[in-house]
Amino acid sequence: MSEFVKVAALSELEEDTPKRVEIDGTPVSLVRTEGEVFAINDICSHANVSLSEGEVEDCHIECWLHGSSFDLRTGKPDGLPATRPVPVYPVKIEGDDVLVSVTQES
Ligand code: FES
Repeated sequence: MSEFVKVAALSELEEDTPKRVEIDGTPVSLVRTEGEVFAINDICSHANVSLSEGEVEDCHIECWLHGSSFDLRTGKPDGLPATRPVPVYPVKIEGDDVLVSVTQES
């Protein structure tokens, strides 16, 4: 069972500007881009830094420290130094509410 919780208002999310939220102790970066909202774990799989401080481009978020870029749809890195994916989570939009479930990785 996946439990969706409201984490933000859609209207407060700026295009291509990640927003870090915490859901039950899990840091999550919310990214509104290309007409969709994505939720990806906020910690880079290479080292303990916050992905929400990185740049968003072409449905990817780039780690600001060493430049690995993660696909927001799958969490997979496109290039080194990161080799492991970052968890991504399902998102639901209900009116102006953005809901995310971290109990189930999508
Ligand atoms: S800490 Fe993210 S790529 Fe190295």
